[in-house]
Amino acid sequence: MAPCKTQDSKAGGSGTTLPPASFALRETIRPILFVFVALPILLAFCRAWAADADVLRPRVPPDQMEAARAVASPLPRTPENVEKGKALYHGKAFCVTCHGRDGKGLGEIPGLVGRLPRDFTDHAWQAARTDGELFWILKNGSPGTDMGPFIPLILTEEEAWQVLLYVRSFGQQ
Ligand code: HEC
Repeated sequence: MAPCKTQDSKAGGSGTTLPPASFALRETIRPILFVFVALPILLAFCRAWAADADVLRPRVPPDQMEAARAVASPLPRTPENVEKGKALYHGKAFCVTCHGRDGKGLGEIPGLVGRLPRDFTDHAWQAARTDGELFWILKNGSPGTDMGPFIPLILTEEEAWQVLLYVRSFGQQ
């Protein structure tokens, strides 16, 4: 213990006797490092955070949230139900045209209004939504975006639950 202490006090002593020239250099480099290194990292982080925060922001309006969350899937997660959901996703419900074969959401859709289609492989998003909220979206769409309502015109309620089982399967990859 004792030798360590002496070393510490020696190091502290030499720090205070630093030559003024190198001290000035350090003081000049510090703001430059901040502007060219720390600031861009900080800004990139903020942009990523803002994008994530928008994706995670609830789509169900606050006054309907409790009722939406109380709705649970009546279907068990059987391979047959997931397969039926997959067929609907790629077939008559055409989810694939916006959300893509890999569920990551296509970026280049001509005429797309509002936000980009959701990336279903985003684990944070999957965890943020209850099944009831996703069902609400299939009934009401996401207002102000090209995610429209699918129940009852295109999907029955049972089919909607099947397609949602398939949407959930992207989060398990
Ligand atoms: C015309 C393009 C388009 C089609 C077709 C489409 N979606 Fe979407 N979808 C979107 C867009 C755009 C968003 C993002 C909306 C937002 O950010 O609020 C979205 C978002 C979603 C969300 C996320 C909502 C949330 O709470 O974050 C779910 C779930 C979803 N779509 C499911 C489906 C399913 C299932 C189908 C097929 C039955 C489908 N979508 C078909 C464009 C589409």
